[in-house]
Amino acid sequence: MNQRRILVTSALPYANGHIHIGHLVEYIQTDIWVRFQKLRGHDCRYMCADDTHGTAIMIRAQKEGRSEEALIAEMSEAHQRDFAGFHIEFDNYGSTNSENSKKHCSPIWQALRDKGLVKENEIEQLFDVEANTFLADRFVKGTCPKCKAVNQNGDSCDVCGAVYTPAELIDPVSILSGTTPEVRKAVHLFVEIESLHEFLNDWTQNSGALQKEISNYLKGHFLGEPLHDWDISRPAPYFGFEIPDAPGNYWYVWFDAPIGYIGSTQDWCDANNQDIKDWWWSEDCEIHHFIGKDITYFHTLFWPAMLKSAGIQLPTKVHIHGFLNVNGEKMSKSKGTFVQAATYLEHLNPSYLRYYYASKLTNKVDDLDLNLEEFVNKINSDLVGKLVNLASRTAKFIKDVGLSATYPDDDGLFADTASAGDEIAEAYEECDFNKAMRLLMAAADKANEFVERSAPWKLKKEADKQQELQDCCTIALNLFRQLVVYISPVLPVLAAQVDELFGKAIKHWDDSKEQQVGYQLNEFKHLMQRVDPKAVEAMINDSKSADEEIAEKQDAADDDGSALEAEPLAETCTFDDFMKVDLRVARVVNAEEVKKSKKLLKLTLSLGGDNTRTVLAGIKTAYTPEQLIGRLVVMVANLAPREMGKFGTSEGMVIAAGPGGEDIWLLSPDSGAKPGQRVH
Ligand code: MSP
Ligand code: ZN
Repeated sequence: MNQRRILVTSALPYANGHIHIGHLVEYIQTDIWVRFQKLRGHDCRYMCADDTHGTAIMIRAQKEGRSEEALIAEMSEAHQRDFAGFHIEFDNYGSTNSENSKKHCSPIWQALRDKGLVKENEIEQLFDVEANTFLADRFVKGTCPKCKAVNQNGDSCDVCGAVYTPAELIDPVSILSGTTPEVRKAVHLFVEIESLHEFLNDWTQNSGALQKEISNYLKGHFLGEPLHDWDISRPAPYFGFEIPDAPGNYWYVWFDAPIGYIGSTQDWCDANNQDIKDWWWSEDCEIHHFIGKDITYFHTLFWPAMLKSAGIQLPTKVHIHGFLNVNGEKMSKSKGTFVQAATYLEHLNPSYLRYYYASKLTNKVDDLDLNLEEFVNKINSDLVGKLVNLASRTAKFIKDVGLSATYPDDDGLFADTASAGDEIAEAYEECDFNKAMRLLMAAADKANEFVERSAPWKLKKEADKQQELQDCCTIALNLFRQLVVYISPVLPVLAAQVDELFGKAIKHWDDSKEQQVGYQLNEFKHLMQRVDPKAVEAMINDSKSADEEIAEKQDAADDDGSALEAEPLAETCTFDDFMKVDLRVARVVNAEEVKKSKKLLKLTLSLGGDNTRTVLAGIKTAYTPEQLIGRLVVMVANLAPREMGKFGTSEGMVIAAGPGGEDIWLLSPDSGAKPGQRVH
């Protein structure tokens, strides 16, 4: 097979916060893919770094009375400790605040200048005199210039939807110091990214680098109209790199952040006697970025524009994943589901989370749900019950005699598992880890059926069946080892334990084709414990923020106005208009799936007594029937019945928020409300 050269990156985590289980989706996903490529014999390297620049770091360092450098050094150590705890292995972990990153910024900047893409613009910005810094929009609050609503954000009003600049706010207050900021003029540098519109159109739609839904999103949201100039400089004081030909101005953090990918590669090249040109400037090298959906824009428009202008290789693929929810909801500090990596490690085995995420990850951009009950079941039934059990119930029987001298007849089981390897490999390659895990567990089922049929525990008791016993265990352990080869990118620690058991290391995917016979195994040591649900509970309790008020405020970071922006307010209606709609509290007394419908659930709603209504609700993508039965909802009780084709008639509607898909949130009254009560 041809050896590919593959450079892989994950997004560079911000140095201003600790790693949490949401981040880990990405770093575990990337690590699995990299380990898979290495196991296939490719020259694959995984680069990452801390993203260290910007206002947030500067302000935190000030508050803590230490230098930015001291702060980011401590965070880098913490990040790397957390990643190592989850068996995430980088070829290099650097920093955007490094000489090597800086070294690669200048030529890219110069290229933008040479192409005439950089221009100056004077803008007005609020300046916090006490904190000695210009204020980004989200650091200012004040009164809306249009509707006069108080306590609005610096960029738009939550009440009337007006959009403005922070300088237009009435009575602005800096949230950093609580003082009134002054308006100061400053010249910023902008990149005219519109000049690259045609290139970006072509690259995002036709290069094959992006998932289909991402290409469509970019086309619908950005590429249909001229691209805005990109504000790329910040005046002093700012923690970052000073722009060589614009003294007193610094590159905005998102300029040097992705260049950190190259800087980190440079660190590795320096230490390993490699030439960076073979990695970033060579068509023979594939470049794969793994990122979350929130930073799509930077990696699919700005970054390719920078690379293109500077004559650097464009990414082969940008793999974009969705966000992590826990138990169907956004991670929450008050609920204890905002779990930091370090807290997880105090309670649970990192291999569990690696396997769980692998079983959930596909190559789609959909959000993922960590359902804690499913987590426990999946680990206990798949990993421990199916995979590990294959070894734990057979190895002991051949402790003294070792593996059979020649490979016994196994009705083609070994050959079947060996050939399943191709499809499993293809699924890994496509980042469809969910499929890889399903195929793997199907093969484990077959191996377990074989063990059940052969019943080694019975053979053990019959003196004349000892050869059969040895053969049966030899087969089971061979199948087990094949499966461990396949799962080793996900579970490197299990693979290492199995290496020890066999006294032989798994080095290549094709080791799954090699039969193990005629030697003694080493002593069998326990491979993996079942998950104790109490440990999960303890982790959640430990993650509950002590100060509930602070926790709720942190959760409210969702209140950034994006939902209102996505769906502006409707026209004004009168009170009488509103009263025409009869909203009632109702209890879901039954819920079932509607056959052949992807969206609908059939709900039986009780308004108290014998008053029930049948409602067809388009909420199947977000709720299971079990989650609904018994709970209170709010319904439109006087809506004219609606025929819904072959699905039947709907006698009303339940009230919910959210754009759809997995993001649907039913409204519920506070406890105490009674079915049938009017909502007004
Ligand atoms: N510093 C930028 C990236 C610069 S890349 C040149 C950044 N940092 S981050 O720390 O906020 O996020 C790092 C990565 O973790 C991003 O890809 C982000 O999408 C991902 N995630 C952060 N929270 C997440 C979830 N809750 N769920 C899944 N991924 C999440 O963005
Ligand atoms: Zn307003």
